[in-house]
Amino acid sequence: MPLSNRRTLTQYLIEQRRRFPQASGELNALILDVSIACKAIAHSVAFGALGDPSTRHIAVGGQINVQGEEQKVLDVVSNEFFIKITEWSGHLAGMASEEMDKPYQIPPPYQRGKYLLVFDPLDGSSNIDVNVSVGSIFSILRAPQDAVDSGRDLVEADFLQPGATQVAAGYALYGPVTMFVLTVGSGVAGFTLDPNLGEFKLTHPDIRVPEDTHEFAINSSNSRFWEPPVKRYVDECLAGKTGPRGRDFNMRWIASMVAEAHRILMRGGVFMYPRDTKDPAKPGRLRLLYEANPVGMLIEQAGGRASTGRQPVLGVKPSSLHQRIGFVFGSKNEVERIERYHHEPASRDAGNPLFVERSLFRD
Ligand code: AHG
Ligand code: MN
Ligand code: MN
Repeated sequence: MPLSNRRTLTQYLIEQRRRFPQASGELNALILDVSIACKAIAHSVAFGALGDPSTRHIAVGGQINVQGEEQKVLDVVSNEFFIKITEWSGHLAGMASEEMDKPYQIPPPYQRGKYLLVFDPLDGSSNIDVNVSVGSIFSILRAPQDAVDSGRDLVEADFLQPGATQVAAGYALYGPVTMFVLTVGSGVAGFTLDPNLGEFKLTHPDIRVPEDTHEFAINSSNSRFWEPPVKRYVDECLAGKTGPRGRDFNMRWIASMVAEAHRILMRGGVFMYPRDTKDPAKPGRLRLLYEANPVGMLIEQAGGRASTGRQPVLGVKPSSLHQRIGFVFGSKNEVERIERYHHEPASRDAGNPLFVERSLFRD
């Protein structure tokens, strides 16, 4: 197909909206603003060590964020782009981000609207200095009606909605090419940034995750902290042809969850950052509201499965803004197998009630 025949993100959104004649177009406008923020971040990321003169005034970095993690300059810059490019529009009641302790209140003179924007402005930012793919992840929710009616300041509880209530979710991936991958609840579409036009063009109209896979991703340096069902699953993959699975598996680990999600959307696979015993204060590594939920919605919309290891991640009622959670997603049959292992007594310990996993570790 000649490039000129490809639809832009704007055209795609207008077509999606035609299915809902009562829709005001506000969601589309918000998604387009998010896509502009992502283009600005892609531009900053592309300057690498040369830096981008237009963002130097906010290049602080070196601080510790609410997660107790060091903020890179680009974490802060990306967070600012999300805020500045979306806050003015009147579509948002408020925002929350990995890089902000508390909800962000839309300041005067801007109007407050009906949506919540929750985001990880730069995922995988530890990969920035080694020039490996990073990305931005976002989730759009409805604000509680009383907040919309009154225009009051938002509180943390307003954001604590299960992932199943997301209106839209997506990510931008800053890799060899910049891509924008989106769901508005009717499948998943992928757009590639056309550097000539500066527009996202529809290149992957109906992304589907294959149900089966021979590829898994996990940070195996944590293996001594894994719970028995995860250890069993990985051991069986590693045993390959001669093990119970009767076939060899391949392994990948990028350490940018957004890039792993993209690989799985493109060709299948299973990703695990499971709950483990490394730090009792952190039941998992990834964050529910702005990592697991948006990626979970995309994966499920593409026919894959997204889970805590025990239950669908989109059904979890969040308890705090920066809550961490075990996260397993990808090809349906493998994720279901991992869930099954969590619900079965571990066979080698079956005789010992202490090691019946379900009774020891409940969600
Ligand atoms: P972030 O850069 O937003 O803090 O997230 C990084 C996450 C995720 O992308 C990745 O899968 C994981 O952290 C890697 O963590 P470890 O290297 O600690 O295993
Ligand atoms: Mn992240
Ligand atoms: Mn981040």
